[in-house]
Amino acid sequence: MKTNNPKITIAIDGYSGCGKSTTAKGVAQKLGYLYIDSGAMYRAVTLYFLRHNIPFDKENDQMLAALCDIHITFEVNPETRLPEVILNGEKVESSIRTPEVAANVSPVSVHPPVRHALVKLQQELGQGGGIVMDGRDIGTVVFPHAELKVFMSADVKIRALRRQAELADKGIIMTPDEILYNLENRDIIDSSRLEGPLKKAMDARVIDTSKITVAEQIEQVLIWANEVIHEKSSCL
Ligand code: DC
Repeated sequence: MKTNNPKITIAIDGYSGCGKSTTAKGVAQKLGYLYIDSGAMYRAVTLYFLRHNIPFDKENDQMLAALCDIHITFEVNPETRLPEVILNGEKVESSIRTPEVAANVSPVSVHPPVRHALVKLQQELGQGGGIVMDGRDIGTVVFPHAELKVFMSADVKIRALRRQAELADKGIIMTPDEILYNLENRDIIDSSRLEGPLKKAMDARVIDTSKITVAEQIEQVLIWANEVIHEKSSCL
């Protein structure tokens, strides 16, 4: 890809565990774009709330005060060359991937003050384009004018088996039923909340990843991205 091509914004949304992050990383790597995992930011806030015993069953003053003490940044890991989330100066990439955080992140993410703080940060990170961000509300709320929006879904049983294998690689053993419960529960909470619910943007292109490989997912998004970049560069 020529460096003088226009830098677009790519928003990838979809259900938990259907390969959004893997696809977003692959696409960002190929295009030389910044990759930001917005779910990691919600997970980092959840980790902070759990560590500091901040209640999150309903909005409260402790939660609002805690949000002022939470500073989330990203730092590129020199080995993987991927940005990793930093919570108040601490690398928390593996601490945010535990079953405990996974079980609590959707209830934390429903609260408007949490969402407002993170959406603001996500929009700052995306200024100037050249970014691939994945999440639940990226094409609808964070970057409603993104040049390319992708909505990903997959059969929930297939998602559970894939997630089980991913966790097993990290030494975390869970049954498919436990994972299925977590994925279904998160999908329900994420889709039904009032603020920034998970939904397909009207102009998003859809991929069902149930029967395709990671390489095929990445390839499909790259084809769309290159089409959009080409159209944009011919209009300049
Ligand atoms: O992408 P993930 O599974 O790591 O995201 C974890 C949770 O964070 C997800 O269940 C809901 C929340 N989330 C969100 O509400 N909005 C986003 N843009 C990204 C994630």
